[in-house]
This record gives sequence, structure tokens and C-alpha cells, in this order.
Amino acid sequence: MHITNILKLGGSVITDKKGHYSIRYADVYRIAQEISLAYSMCSKRMLIVHGGGSFGHPTVAEHGGVENPMATSQVVYFMRELNMVIVDALNAYGVPAIPMDTHAIFYRDCEKFLQFFYKPLEEAIEKSIVPVLYGDVVFGCKGSDVLSGDEIVWRLSTVFKPCRILFASDVDGVYDKHPSEVGAKLLDVVSLHNIGVIEFGSQGRTDVTGEMKAKLLYGLRYWHGDIAEVLIFNGLKKGRIYNALCGKDVHGTRVIL
Ligand code: IPE
Repeated sequence: MHITNILKLGGSVITDKKGHYSIRYADVYRIAQEISLAYSMCSKRMLIVHGGGSFGHPTVAEHGGVENPMATSQVVYFMRELNMVIVDALNAYGVPAIPMDTHAIFYRDCEKFLQFFYKPLEEAIEKSIVPVLYGDVVFGCKGSDVLSGDEIVWRLSTVFKPCRILFASDVDGVYDKHPSEVGAKLLDVVSLHNIGVIEFGSQGRTDVTGEMKAKLLYGLRYWHGDIAEVLIFNGLKKGRIYNALCGKDVHGTRVIL
């Protein structure tokens, strides 16, 4: 099935990762407005995935993982709360978005392959409904684990073959060294075969799924012949999400094989 976009809203774009359970409401509503405009102008068939930000990572860290049943229940609880805020904002701006509980449709099999039941997503997209998935707990043959929104995006792309895979981040894209370091340069294009030479560093925040480098490593794992365009850009800068969804020029990093 071909769709227009898969958009990942990074947890750092929709929440304040320095806090606990803290939402960037002004950004969430602005983003919902941009998505709404794109929905009416150019992007009816799309999937949205959001990250865990200050709802997911601290909860996982507090419990030291998600193996413990109470940890699973708490992570799912907080992620669904965050998901409802995003879906509510989209609905408020007229986007027919629905929550799609990731833990209920994804499963990690014994070969560590990520299986998922894609029929409900396919049907929703056919009806121009916008499913909103999220980084979550994933049950699996070898136990439960955290499933990052980035991996979800790449895996979804193998079935839904989007024109564009869009990662809205809190930085402008991929830099040659950590963006907070003096002299860090934004890379216009990054090849997945060259990620070994980039000094990603650590942002010193609680992130249990590995930030920018992990995003690119998943790309290497899931890359397939139908991938057209992959863009990492800053979702906190006004207008960029709309422009990216409608295929206009956006300042950021293009990812190639
Ligand atoms: C993390 O998802 C999900 C949980 C911690 C439960 P992501 O890895 O996609 O989240 P962000 O975008 O880095 O916040």
C-alpha cells in the first residue's frame, strides 16, 4: 500500500524532556494546526508516530526496564495519556486522527523480527483516518521490551511505502558532532553507511532508546527499495512540519543508503 507520509514527532518536540510528564502544549497545538493544513492540502493518507519524551523514558528508567508487570502497566498508562493529548489536539483542528495502541498490534517474534497486524491501519488510511501510534512496550517471544517510535516508523515503511519518512526532532538534523558542541556542522545529507564517522555524543538526558544514532541504525536494518525520501528536521521551528508533509523544501538532513 502506498501512502504520502509517515511522520514521527520526537518526544523532545511534544514534551519537555527535562521535566517529568511535561507537555509542550503551545508546540503541540501549533503542530496540530500544521498537520491539519497539510491534511487538507496534500496529505490525507498518512501515519503519525510519536515518541515517549518525558512520559516514556523516565517511567522506564524508574522501573529499570519493562520486564516487571507493574512497569509495563505504568509505561503503557503514561504513553496512552500522552497519545490522547496528541490525538485530542489533532481532532480539535479537524484532523480525523485516532489512537492506535502500539502494544496491541506489534509483537517481537523469536527471531527478534517485529511483527504487526497492519490491516486495521490499512483500513483506517483507506478512509482518510490518521492513525497515531507511539513508542511503547512491545511484548515478545523473549519477554517485554521498549519499542521506540523510530523503529515503528521504519518498520511501518516496509508495508506502507510512503513517499516521505519524516522525523521531526528538536534539532535541525544530523550534525558532524554533537549539536551542542562548538563548531558542530549540520550535514545536508547523511549516508547510512557512513554513520560510523559521526560523533553523536550523548545529550545527557534520560533516553532509554538511544536518540539520533539509533534512528539511523534502524534505517540501516529496515531499508528497502521503495524508500523515496527520508528527512530529519526541526519540528520546533514554525512551518517546517507543514512544508515537510507537503514535499516543500525544508532545512534539515536527508538520509540516503
Ligand atoms: C520511547 O519512544 C518510548 C518509551 C520510552 C516508552 P521514542 O524512543 O520514540 O521516544 P523519543 O522520541 O526518543 O522521546
